[in-house]
Amino acid sequence: MMVSAKKQLQTIFLASTNCSNETSVEENVVKPLLKILGYVPQDWDAQARSGYGRVDFLVKARRQRSPTRHFLVIEVKRPGHHLSKSQWQLNRYLRDSGSLFGLLTNGFQFHIFYNFFGKVELVHGFDQPQIIEDHTRFTQLLCQKTCIRVMGLFNEQQYKVHQVILGAIAQKLDKPEIRKIPYRNKPEEISKLEQSQKSMIITVFNNKGGVGKTTLTINLASALAKMGKKILLIDIDSQANLTTGLGTDPLFDIERQGKKDITHLLTEAKTSIDDVKIRKSWGDITLDFVPSHIRLSDMEAQLIQTVDVDRVLVKKLRKYKEVYDFIFIDPPPSFGKVNTISLMASAGILVPLQLSPYPIRALEYVMNRAFAIDDIREDPLHILGIAVSMYDRASKKLLVEMKEEINSVLGEDKRRQNVPLFPENTWIPRRNIVSTSPNKGYPLPAAEFDDELSTQEREAALDAFTCYQALAEHLVQAAEKVKG
Ligand SMILES: Nc1ncnc2c1ncn2[C@@H]1O[C@H](COP(=O)(O)OP(=O)(O)OP(=O)(O)O)[C@@H](O)[C@H]1O
Ligand SMILES: [Mg+2]
Repeated sequence: MMVSAKKQLQTIFLASTNCSNETSVEENVVKPLLKILGYVPQDWDAQARSGYGRVDFLVKARRQRSPTRHFLVIEVKRPGHHLSKSQWQLNRYLRDSGSLFGLLTNGFQFHIFYNFFGKVELVHGFDQPQIIEDHTRFTQLLCQKTCIRVMGLFNEQQYKVHQVILGAIAQKLDKPEIRKIPYRNKPEEISKLEQSQKSMIITVFNNKGGVGKTTLTINLASALAKMGKKILLIDIDSQANLTTGLGTDPLFDIERQGKKDITHLLTEAKTSIDDVKIRKSWGDITLDFVPSHIRLSDMEAQLIQTVDVDRVLVKKLRKYKEVYDFIFIDPPPSFGKVNTISLMASAGILVPLQLSPYPIRALEYVMNRAFAIDDIREDPLHILGIAVSMYDRASKKLLVEMKEEINSVLGEDKRRQNVPLFPENTWIPRRNIVSTSPNKGYPLPAAEFDDELSTQEREAALDAFTCYQALAEHLVQAAEKVKG
């Protein structure tokens, strides 16, 4: 391969010894060189307009999705021409066209320039023998691959700047929808990175109190952990039911030990998830969680004053997307600030639903809230599905009626029609053991090891847990679907 590149170059330059004018340098040297550099004729324009003049070759980023700048301008002179005399001309073409690199050549000498937003530098000068000897270096400087990579870097930076600017404007004008203004050329590198982020952040959301959000969160997360998924739970409810349900007392185990909780995470810029998280294990189930504290209930005013508070959790979770498979947020039963913070940080919503008339009617409000948040976000917020959280297995008649009621609520609106109700084998039965295990500070499967329980209670615990396991499988599928 190396020998053939060398041979190709020797052949090209042999032809150039007979060059008598600029045109033959273009045909016999520059065009063959461009091919060696990885470009095809569709990549360049000959005699392209640039400012007030015409540049001999303008190599464009045609095959890229992000053509923010051209790759290369080439100015060709006749053999014997002193390149230094024409440097000004190349500088002008580079500035006018905004291209990254420039090549000035008379067929014998080759001067390479780099244009950093109008500041043009001569990077290196090659002559024919040097290019033949050092063809790898010459090629790597100007080849298409290099240009694409450099352009990708610029584009990535521009995308970040774009996001910061929109964020600042949105905040100043108090118009969150401004953040949604799309970036014309979202960098492919960034899109790929986003796809590789494996975590799914889900808010278990229903503004109605006592529908089983927290119980569902703990046991569903345990089912996923049993499947081998890495889980983080975030208790963002001042009632701290998730925290106590996992056997941690916010007063004794956190405050009195001088440890931090969700309130520190939300209000202290430097406090990270690692500073607050607690890890608990029960057999093969391991859960990390951010504990809550009752003082969160007095913090609404402080939260509103915190800079960019709606995105505080988004930012803090960013680096954990590679660490966890699922991050669940357990919010309070309200439409307050912490709910917005939770929904802004999430990619999906899971709606727990009790099978009785009022909660079903309230579904409409839950979904409208989710759609309202979706409208102001840059990335979509998916309603992954509705999970029945307390189901009375005895009443078949009620079941038919409730299903009809749910379907009628979902059918009322086009957007709602896409929201799935998870199937019956995922419906969590109403059982005493489901209700008592959080009081004991463990998830359902740990009931197996509780000597205070009867055999029947343990069986009931395992039976109920199989529904959470079925739900976990459906949730994994729903998450995969929206991740694409
Ligand atoms: N499947 C179930 N069977 C029996 N009781 C249940 C079941 N699921 C939840 N509960 C009980 O219902 C009550 C409310 O549940 P939970 O605290 O999970 O709801 P929540 O929606 O998180 O409430 P809040 O809105 O106050 O945060 C609790 O006493 C809980 O133990
Ligand atoms: Mg709760």
